Amino acid sequence: MSEYTKEVNRRKTFAIISHPDAGKTTLTEKMLLLGGAIRSAGSVKAKKSAKFATSDWMELEKQRGISVTSSVMQFEYEGYKINILDTPGHEDFSEDTYRTLMAVDSVVMILDVAKGVEAQTKKLFKVCRDRGIPIFTFINKMDRFGKEPLELFEEIEEVLGIESTPVNYPIGMGPTFKGVYDRFTKKIEYYADGENVGTQQVEDYDDLQKQLEQTADQATIDQLIEDLMLLDEAGNEFDMESVTNGNQTPVFFGSAISSFGVPTFLEHFLEMAPSPSSRESTAGTIDPTDKEFSGFVFKIQANMDPSHRDRIAFLRICSGKYEKGMTTYLDRTGKQMKLAQPQQFFADSREAVEEAYAGDIVGLYDPGVYQIGDTVCGNKDIFSFGDLPQFAPEHFAKVRPKNAMKHKQYIKGIQQLAQEGAIQVYRTPHFEETILGAVGQLQFEVFIYRMQAEYGVELVMDRLSYQVARWVTKGEIPEKAMRTSTSMVVKDYVDRPVILFKNEFNLEYFQNQNEDIDLSEKPPRN
Ligand code: G4P
Repeated sequence: MSEYTKEVNRRKTFAIISHPDAGKTTLTEKMLLLGGAIRSAGSVKAKKSAKFATSDWMELEKQRGISVTSSVMQFEYEGYKINILDTPGHEDFSEDTYRTLMAVDSVVMILDVAKGVEAQTKKLFKVCRDRGIPIFTFINKMDRFGKEPLELFEEIEEVLGIESTPVNYPIGMGPTFKGVYDRFTKKIEYYADGENVGTQQVEDYDDLQKQLEQTADQATIDQLIEDLMLLDEAGNEFDMESVTNGNQTPVFFGSAISSFGVPTFLEHFLEMAPSPSSRESTAGTIDPTDKEFSGFVFKIQANMDPSHRDRIAFLRICSGKYEKGMTTYLDRTGKQMKLAQPQQFFADSREAVEEAYAGDIVGLYDPGVYQIGDTVCGNKDIFSFGDLPQFAPEHFAKVRPKNAMKHKQYIKGIQQLAQEGAIQVYRTPHFEETILGAVGQLQFEVFIYRMQAEYGVELVMDRLSYQVARWVTKGEIPEKAMRTSTSMVVKDYVDRPVILFKNEFNLEYFQNQNEDIDLSEKPPRN
């Protein structure tokens, strides 16, 4: 086996998706603890508040109880190299999340046993389905009373449209929760007083029943055996191929807060989840074990460390091996670039990367050369992995700095945050007024907050009543259409013409009147 194959096979790159409060932070933390990446529980949360002390906009995140940034965490566990990509749990930040999901090989979906499939889970899940990403389900908070497992499977199948197969099954729940039974290894894992109190191998259901008599009440045991038999007879048979294709989700139960069920979950997950696989590009299929280096930028984040004012482009490696100081080429510009000092992210630190393989995420210092969706190639035969999904803004507002003296910082902030993809920025042609476009309302709030916290600029904002933006990709906009009561022509940050319409009807009318003009929902890449 080549060094490349060995390294690629031991990599697992995944994201955890959930509705806020289902337990994503807690599960992530327990995994990091298992991998020795952090030493004490509470570190991830503590880190949240430590960050908030240095970067004020995190305060907004805390106030709203949401996570607005995605981060990357890498650790080793039992020979595996694990990359966890965090996804923001709020729907307004879906764009960032969607792009992050393009950079993973599998997804862990957490459901709160009491809540089942919630709105945000549904949205995120759809993206995974569209991409055919394998999905693993962790049903959390079994120490609390919730929905019956069979009801949850039905919900997963009906609402999400994916088959489910439980790998383990809960023994009671809430006050009667006694642990889980592993249907694959025939092992009981006992839970008592918020702890894992041991495991036991059983022969068959008779034996299982007998062993449980010491700990669980008869009704719980009867229900368990009945459910298990029903699943054996009428449940979906586990099928690895269906899991790999994203048509079946293995389901696990646990209580993340006490780490109960987390090690077992991780072990099964690491065995079943795919390692980095091949990706399509303009040069055909790129295999992760190809020697030629390649990757794509899926996220750019400014001011990760406010004291340095740096900007990081997150690169998902798709093939080859990163070596220190290597020379690469950017697909969009054809320019040669030295990858200077890329970094890898650990739970509580960043470190310079010595070497990295397909599946790894490295952070590149970005002096303003990268754009989201860029492909980075290891040699002159440049190819491209294609565009990442973009979403048309539906909310618009005009902004200006409250204090005209702050103009310089204002321009800098607007430019940097636009490049990061935090918001769309347009200008009116004559007066050069700034117009912002957002996919969700909350994006405005975060933008205002960050402009103040990171650039010291207080903004005045007026909401505009446009709902649709279209890039003009072909044709000249006629003079009489330049400014009407239902549309406005603006320029994006690289001077491409964009028309804002009040609604879909106005857009349609414009198209009918101007058939020689091509309009696009997405900005053209250049
Ligand atoms: P999120 O990142 O998905 O938003 O969820 P997070 O892990 O922050 O968990 C949300 C709340 O649920 C937290 O409580 C957390 O302690 C609790 N929780 C997580 N896993 C379990 C579990 O297995 N059982 C029970 N009973 N609770 C769980 P909180 O009160 O909001 O925060 P905290 O004060 O406990 O930190």
